[in-house]
Order: sequence, then C-alpha cells, then structure tokens
Amino acid sequence: MQNKQRKIIIDTDIGIDDAFALRYGSLLFDLVGITTVNGNVTADMATKNAKLFCEHYGLNIPVCKGATRPLAVPPSPPITNIHGSDGLGGCYDNPHNADAPNAVQFLIDMVKAHPHELTILAIGPLTNIALALNFCPEFAELVQEMVIMGGAFGFNQHTGNKTNFSEFNIWSDPHAADQVLHSHMKITMLPLDVTYEVIISGEEVQNTHDQFLNDISKFYFEFTLKEEGFYGIAVHDALTVSYLNDPTPYTVISKPVRVVTEPGITFGQTVIPHSSMPVPIDYFKGLPEHQICIGVDAPKVREHLLRTLTVN
Ligand code: BDR
Ligand code: CA
Repeated sequence: MQNKQRKIIIDTDIGIDDAFALRYGSLLFDLVGITTVNGNVTADMATKNAKLFCEHYGLNIPVCKGATRPLAVPPSPPITNIHGSDGLGGCYDNPHNADAPNAVQFLIDMVKAHPHELTILAIGPLTNIALALNFCPEFAELVQEMVIMGGAFGFNQHTGNKTNFSEFNIWSDPHAADQVLHSHMKITMLPLDVTYEVIISGEEVQNTHDQFLNDISKFYFEFTLKEEGFYGIAVHDALTVSYLNDPTPYTVISKPVRVVTEPGITFGQTVIPHSSMPVPIDYFKGLPEHQICIGVDAPKVREHLLRTLTVN
C-alpha cells in the first residue's frame, strides 16, 4: 500500500515535538483525524493547538477532544518549562476554542468504519486508547496497528526523563499504559532508548524553512541549551511516523511489557522480562508480546525526517 493511502489518527497532547510528528505524519500518510489528551498541556489546550496546527497547514480534518485527566492518578501540571506556556512555545496568539467532538467516540467510530485499515500513532499519555479499549471490546481487533512513543528500558543508557526510571507519557497515566500493553493490538513502542538518539539541531530545523516549526521550537532550544548543553530538539514523537514509514533503521525486540502502577521510586517504569527462566510468580504470564525499538540508525532517520520537512 502506498503510504499516502495509509490512514492514520494521531493521538496527541500537542506540545512541540508532537507538532513535528503531526507535520511529518501529515506529509507521508492520510491523516484522517487528530485526537487530543491531557499531558504536556491540558486537553483543552491540546485541542486549541491541534486546531491552530490544522489551520496553519491547511488541513481540513476532525480534531476531537479526549481525556482531561489520567484514569487513576491526579493530572500533572502542564510542562511549561519545555513546551512553553501553551505547549507550542508561546509564540502564536491562538484564536481557537476548545469545543470539539469526543475523541474516544471518534476513535471507536473510525476503527469500526475502517476495520483493519486504521493505524493509531499515540504520542501522549495512553488514556484515550485505554478508554476506547474499555468501551469497545472489539477495538483491539479492529485497529490495524498502533505505534506508541513511550517508555524507557535502559538501552543505550537512556532511562527516564520524568523520573530516573520513567518516561513522561507512561508516567503520566501508568494505569492506561498497562491496560493498553495488556491488549492484543499490534503495538510497536518507540521508547527514549531510541528517541534520545535522534537529535535535530537548531540550524537543521532552520534549514527546513518551515516557519511554524521554527517559531515553536525556539522555546525548546532555549531549554535544551540551558539544561542539556546543546541547541536542538529530541523529536521523540516524530519517530513514530519514521518507524511506520520505514522500520528498517530500527533494531526491534519482541517482549511482553508491564508498567509499574504502584507508588514508589519505579512508578511509571516500563518493564520487560530479561530472562526466559520459569519463575513461580510470573508477572508476564499469558501477556502478548509487543515490538520495542531498542536501536536506531540515527543518521538515516534524521536525513529522511529533515528532507521530508523541508519546504521547497
Ligand atoms: C514525550 O513526553 C512529551 O513531553 C513529549 O511530547 C513526548 O511525547 C517524551 O517523553
Ligand atoms: Ca507528546
């Protein structure tokens, strides 16, 4: 199937790297809708941002508002120090409101309307996806495939970015993530283990001549320069699009995955069994295996991303 015919929905808490993923995804695939979720910003703000994004790039697609809070833990405040006051670097006046149809219903309706033909790229906390699985028992079976940005497994020395052990999207709603990872959907995870390997410099973003991406990412660059000592962006979420477009630059393992939902220092950590030795208490017993990307040919991924984003 030609990529442009491939139908995708992007489920997002649209902050800065989410916008890169949305742009990249809309250029390569048939983006049939955007669903928003609380995470980097509130679900209301994410909805307004998604509308602004669609207006800027002339996309006439549904924007639907999803979960305003995680399933079982209190919502964490917006990540204003990385993504700016509004999630998009605080550089645009956003004229849009947050009114929008229900995202979970939209996801369910769309997989029923396009059975086995819809891929979901989940680049925020997994609350909407868990709710869709709960409300629609056949959801997992009807989805063609799901690609998730989330998790951290310790490969390539990348562990957590929210805590020492936990990645932000999974940490934000660990109960939802654990439920989703229990499902038999075809799932591939792009964890920090690979996303922190693909850094785009400020100069490279500038060379794409994409004004919107340049404007919004300035705030992120200031953060990374101050906190991490380089002027650039880890475009975490965009790697879901990259993988779907071409999985060959990625090293992938197949494992069942659990999420630590109990309070404590490992709260929100994604865990896999490293040994196949039978144990009397097996937390992974009967769970489906999912694909986890643990290595990446970063130059290849960067080259394709930058070439695709470049405005001619
Ligand atoms: C993830 O957290 C968010 O801040 C980013 O948008 C990305 O989805 C990376 O951990
Ligand atoms: Ca995100």
